[in-house]
Amino acid sequence: MNKIRIAIQKSGRLNEDSLALLKDSGISIDNGKDQLKASSPNFPMEVFYLRNGDIPQYLRDGVVDIAIIGENVLVEKGEDIEIAEKLGFSKCRVSMAVPKGQSYKSMADLSGKRIATSYPNTVNSFLEKNGIEADLHIITGSVEIAPNIGLADAIVDIVSSGSTLFKNNLKEVEVLLKSEAVLAVSPGIKPETREILEQLRFRIRSVLKAQQ
Ligand code: PRP
Ligand code: MG
Repeated sequence: MNKIRIAIQKSGRLNEDSLALLKDSGISIDNGKDQLKASSPNFPMEVFYLRNGDIPQYLRDGVVDIAIIGENVLVEKGEDIEIAEKLGFSKCRVSMAVPKGQSYKSMADLSGKRIATSYPNTVNSFLEKNGIEADLHIITGSVEIAPNIGLADAIVDIVSSGSTLFKNNLKEVEVLLKSEAVLAVSPGIKPETREILEQLRFRIRSVLKAQQ
């Protein structure tokens, strides 16, 4: 039987809410926690647990048909990928922050500065759009520590509660984009698999409606 292959974040903030959404949609997942693949006994679905940043490429390659992923990751790595549904959870911002004690009046203050980030494409298009030239330092995690260790003058990273910024003595000065979890679709999805996607979307919409 044809099944839809869905990618879900392996670990991290989206993982739990993504599985909860499937469960609320009446889809059980047989879950050995350490398995990277699971399937549903009551819906034609296979679940792949993958690293966030790898998911856009898996969608592009057609290794999975759909994914639950942060919009911010698609903006960074998958502008070409179709979004079928916004899911309303994991809301966050991708923001620029500078040390609290540093004066910041406008974007022009970023000119010539060193900016640390895991979102180089997002930052570059923001800088280009605003005609600012700056130096990017690409790091994959714990970005907020960069100004404190003298690696950068500013950072761009995800802000959710704001507690990581607060703990690192940083202040948010620009919001580059607002993001939430979305259901993304592979460009290679087969017509018969798209039918399963439509059933899934119908169920997800009912769940989201009931939550309002
Ligand atoms: C994420 C993100 C921010 C933080 C934002 O990091 O990179 O640092 O969460 O959340 P907050 O505003 O609620 O504090 P995460 O803890 O997932 O770790 P990582 O950066 O090492 O991936
Ligand atoms: Mg972090």
